[in-house]
Amino acid sequence: MRRGVLARWASRLPLTEKTPLLTLGEGDTPLVPAPSLARDVGCAELWLKFEGQNPTGSFKDRGMVVAVAKALEAGLSSAVCASTGNTSASAAAYCAAAGIACNVVVPEGKVALGKMAQAVAHGARIVVLRGNFDAALVRVREVAERRGIALLNSVNPHRIEGQKTAAFEVAEALGRAPDVLALPVGNAGNITAYWRGFTELGGRRPVLLGFQAAGAAPLVSGSPVARPETVATAIRIGNPASWKAAAAAQRESGGLFAAVTDAEILAASRRLSREAGVFCEPASAAPVAGLLRLAREKTDFSGRIVVAVLTGHGLKDPQSAIDAQAGVGPTVDDDPAALEAALA
Ligand code: F0G
Repeated sequence: MRRGVLARWASRLPLTEKTPLLTLGEGDTPLVPAPSLARDVGCAELWLKFEGQNPTGSFKDRGMVVAVAKALEAGLSSAVCASTGNTSASAAAYCAAAGIACNVVVPEGKVALGKMAQAVAHGARIVVLRGNFDAALVRVREVAERRGIALLNSVNPHRIEGQKTAAFEVAEALGRAPDVLALPVGNAGNITAYWRGFTELGGRRPVLLGFQAAGAAPLVSGSPVARPETVATAIRIGNPASWKAAAAAQRESGGLFAAVTDAEILAASRRLSREAGVFCEPASAAPVAGLLRLAREKTDFSGRIVVAVLTGHGLKDPQSAIDAQAGVGPTVDDDPAALEAALA
């Protein structure tokens, strides 16, 4: 049974006896083996930490449950976040369960359909900003400060606390920390959280490989990107809030940041769906695209145990999945011969 992040990791989280044990059954996501991809990466084992199996379909639920529980504990009745989609879906769901009013600000035209549907379904007030995620985050920080309402972005320390539990699960499942952990990086909260998690566990920590989309790769270039663009809308971010912490994690782990093109992301996503049986959203394929790229560029992963974090479910962004394929079809008459011919 999924007990939820608060019950399962209580001793490692900033909870008090007054913190409500909110849960939608988040956490305890699987590590799925990916042998054919492991062969091409040249590592001993490649495991996919499939965070798409969280209640709202992304890793955000781990931190959101802590942030919303702490908001309840503080007696707040209203919350706000900026989002490329997943944070808003998660915030909307947990606020609904907690009876807190949820406000989300999203960039115009760039939020995947499934994510928008979730925020709508859970009854969040949704404001579409003529601007990108970075602008939205600046604005909601101002609003939260001015109005004294809960800010549910990962600049809220409770978000990072909850997200670090993914590192605990990975180490528990493997019986040790992996040698390498690869993940997509957008606002840079998740890489910060994994590093904190592995550090708190003690012992050997993995090398962290953070992958960004080529059109939105400030951590790779070293300066903010004014107009980030990528098919991986989840990580369409030009000025990550957790820049410093992420850079420290990368440095201390002996890892790197690298960029992958949209074409590489879509190709990796296709392989994940067709070879590993795991359907993830485009941003989540970035670490696999990155590992394949590094292997082609002669990085030696031999003997290594590698984990790639697949942050969100493919159903979040069905249109990009369909667009990336030959499409659906043909449509045939309800006639045995026609069907036989179409399937030949
Ligand atoms: N993968 C997915 C599917 C995401 O939704 C995000 C971030 C990331 C990776 C990057 O994680 O920001 O911690 O470096 N999504 C945020 C949102 C920005 O609003 O849903 P990060």
